[in-house]
Amino acid sequence: MKKLIFASALFFGCEKATVPDQTTASEDVSYHYHVQPFIEMYCISCHNAGTASAELYDYDHVAATAASGELVGCLTGNPNYIPMPPSNSNQPNTFQIDQIEKWVEAGYPNN
Ligand code: HEC
Repeated sequence: MKKLIFASALFFGCEKATVPDQTTASEDVSYHYHVQPFIEMYCISCHNAGTASAELYDYDHVAATAASGELVGCLTGNPNYIPMPPSNSNQPNTFQIDQIEKWVEAGYPNN
């Protein structure tokens, strides 16, 4: 029994942030619940601290790309921006992209 408790503590302790498995975008928007896991899964491998193009490793940097229009622009095929993630990378689904747009439209809250 003791072993089991220890094992589950270990499991939860190491649990990684995952993008919610969405089939529809939620009206509630959350940086920590929706945006950060999305960035970690689809963007951070190329956009960590020290990246020349766009650093997306914390709220302030992600919010800056939201404010400039780059974040939504590059996710939604706006011709003024370079499409992201690049086509040979793991692609988010349209609901996940909708969720990022909703967060930006809501004023990109740090919540
Ligand atoms: C495989 C690596 C890779 C991944 C994954 C990736 N990017 Fe990029 N990103 C780049 C590179 C390289 C550039 C610079 C492109 C250039 O200047 O030609 C770039 C540029 C950008 C820019 C500046 C674009 C512009 O139009 O000026 C933004 C914003 C951006 N990425 C956001 C994202 C977001 C958001 C994600 C995740 C959904 C993402 N990237 C995923 C490699 C990546």
